[in-house]
Amino acid sequence: MKVRVIDKDGVEHALEGLAGWRLMEVIRDYKLPIKAECGGACCCATCHVYVDENWRKKLPPPTGEEAGQLDNAFEVGDNSRLSCQIILNEDMDGLQVTLAPGSEP
Ligand code: FES
Repeated sequence: MKVRVIDKDGVEHALEGLAGWRLMEVIRDYKLPIKAECGGACCCATCHVYVDENWRKKLPPPTGEEAGQLDNAFEVGDNSRLSCQIILNEDMDGLQVTLAPGSEP
């Protein structure tokens, strides 16, 4: 499965994703600039991404914990998610996200 990640310069990267992995882990493994300070524990909001509109409703909704942590992120929008809380599955093939401000290392 592929996930498409757009960096702050607008460049799209097609990454090979694995079911069961956190989206943040895939982004980090490909050495794209994502801070992900807490390593996926949902307590830093530095793995903030914007989910493409076509995908926003297809993803499981954020938990209360994720929604609460997003309050600490910069420039939060309706399509904001924490990439460490998106667990990939085969239905997410083609998922597109954009790295959000404040998530750069
Ligand atoms: S890596 Fe810290 S909240 Fe996602």
